[in-house]
Amino acid sequence: MAFEKKIRELLQKREQAKLGGGQKRIDTQHKKGKLTARERIDILLDEGSFEEFDMFVTHRCDDFGIEKQKYYSDGVVTGFGTIDGRLVYVYSQDFTIFGGSLSLAYAEKICKVMDKAMKVGAPVIGLNDSGGARIQEGVNSLAGYTEIFQRNINASGVIPQITGIFGPCAGGAVYSPALTDFVVMTKENSYMFLTGPKVVKTVTGEVVTEQELGGAVTHGTKSGVSHFTADDEEQAFLLIRKLLSYLPQNNLEDPPLQPCDDPIDRLDESLNDIIPENPNKPYDVKDIIYSLVDDNEFFEVHRNYASNIVTGMARFNGMSVGIVANQPKYLAGVLDINASRKAARFVRFCDAFNIPLVTLVDVPGFLPGTVQEFGGIITHGAKLLYAYGEATVPKITIVLRKAYGGAYCVMSSKHLRGDINYAWPMAEIAVMGPKGATEILHNKEIKAIENEDERTKFMIEKEKDYLEKFATPYAAAKYGYIDDVIEPRNTRFRIIRSLQSLATKKDVNPPKKHSNIPL
Ligand code: HXC
Repeated sequence: MAFEKKIRELLQKREQAKLGGGQKRIDTQHKKGKLTARERIDILLDEGSFEEFDMFVTHRCDDFGIEKQKYYSDGVVTGFGTIDGRLVYVYSQDFTIFGGSLSLAYAEKICKVMDKAMKVGAPVIGLNDSGGARIQEGVNSLAGYTEIFQRNINASGVIPQITGIFGPCAGGAVYSPALTDFVVMTKENSYMFLTGPKVVKTVTGEVVTEQELGGAVTHGTKSGVSHFTADDEEQAFLLIRKLLSYLPQNNLEDPPLQPCDDPIDRLDESLNDIIPENPNKPYDVKDIIYSLVDDNEFFEVHRNYASNIVTGMARFNGMSVGIVANQPKYLAGVLDINASRKAARFVRFCDAFNIPLVTLVDVPGFLPGTVQEFGGIITHGAKLLYAYGEATVPKITIVLRKAYGGAYCVMSSKHLRGDINYAWPMAEIAVMGPKGATEILHNKEIKAIENEDERTKFMIEKEKDYLEKFATPYAAAKYGYIDDVIEPRNTRFRIIRSLQSLATKKDVNPPKKHSNIPL
């Protein structure tokens, strides 16, 4: 009993720390429909698994009277725990303490968990809800942010980094989330912007709300800054947990293998008829993805951004894969700036973390026009080309229908070290579509025909010839660019066999300091 007092003191301090900025501020947080920093951690992690660090840290600032206001933990709760039994490090910003704003001591706490996560090779999850730099701390706060950015950069491609945005995230503070692999935002309460509506109005005269400028819908559909939009915080935590289930702990490990009851040789007869006879008619490539993958489960990334390309995680016989698929249902599946950027980043993430790539191709080409050219489609399209060419994970490609021109080359073609490239019998692989090709190849003959009906008839005939000769998978299969033409209904089995055959694949890029992807 000699130390009873000391133990009571410890427990009291803990209780005090758990109250953050006090019950009144916790109530305000709840009234806004937001959870507290600790409540978030409790829901995110496996029950009872959280081990907290630095609960008794306080700030060291003596300006603006802030020295009289000290709160345990200083606005961020940090530590480690597990998700589905696997180790993760977390930090959760506490808006009840100085609006979750970042002091030097607070930044040091985040850096500590990031450093530990790097040492042991475990993911870091950051839960953001903050007024940004703690104004009273001046340049120390900027220094603290930048120390975090440096760690985000060092950890990139080594451990998965995931950010949840559950409140404000403004100014330079947005750059830590942007440096991480995935950003999840909640619909109602979260926003991210470099400069808020007031500054925007002063500088550009635009009148815009916080949500319009940087809400979850804006970043999930227009800017692509956010990868997932959750209805509420609980859903955001489920998303993060699910996402991690597909990922390895670090870049030296393989993704976890899940038990699989879905037969590997499950045939889907409907796939033989899923491609419309009319080559210009759209269909939903997600129907094909759902049919192929284990238990029809597809975890889509960037669902509402650049919908002309689909990206996401799935499993084949329990193995994690990254899926990239052109979406004919949206803009005919054309590649444009946003689609190229979206897919390139996804491909690079998968490659960094040893996740094989399965690519489903149905692409009429790159989107023409001044908007695209002035916006730099050349550089952005090159990103996707680069990402596929650089990737050394197993790469399996299925050409479902169209693979025209440069887009054929880009979409994980054989020539970009595609390991196994299959095509469905209805595939059309050629330099360009039949109309454009006929107009160029028969330019003089077409011009010479004066009668319009005859000219149309001539063109239809020539387009037919072209389609028969070039727009088939066999023109490419003849050269070994397509390893086999497969029956659509059997695609799941062929992909799984391919993945099994590539399980021990080793491929390397030439030694270099780092690559110079066209950013
Ligand atoms: C210190 C801050 C703070 C900050 C909020 N608080 N932001 N304290 N530094 N940056 C405090 C408030 O004084 C208040 O204290 C409490 O947090 C809650 O803030 P409220 O304003 O009452 O809350 P709310 O109405 O919900 O508004 C939240 C807010 C607003 C939108 C975030 O507080 C705000 O605009 N804050 C300033 C944001 C900002 O300009 N930050 C700097 C951005 S630049 P009490 O004691 O009353 O509870 C930046 C650069 C980073 O971050 C660069 C990195 C390289």
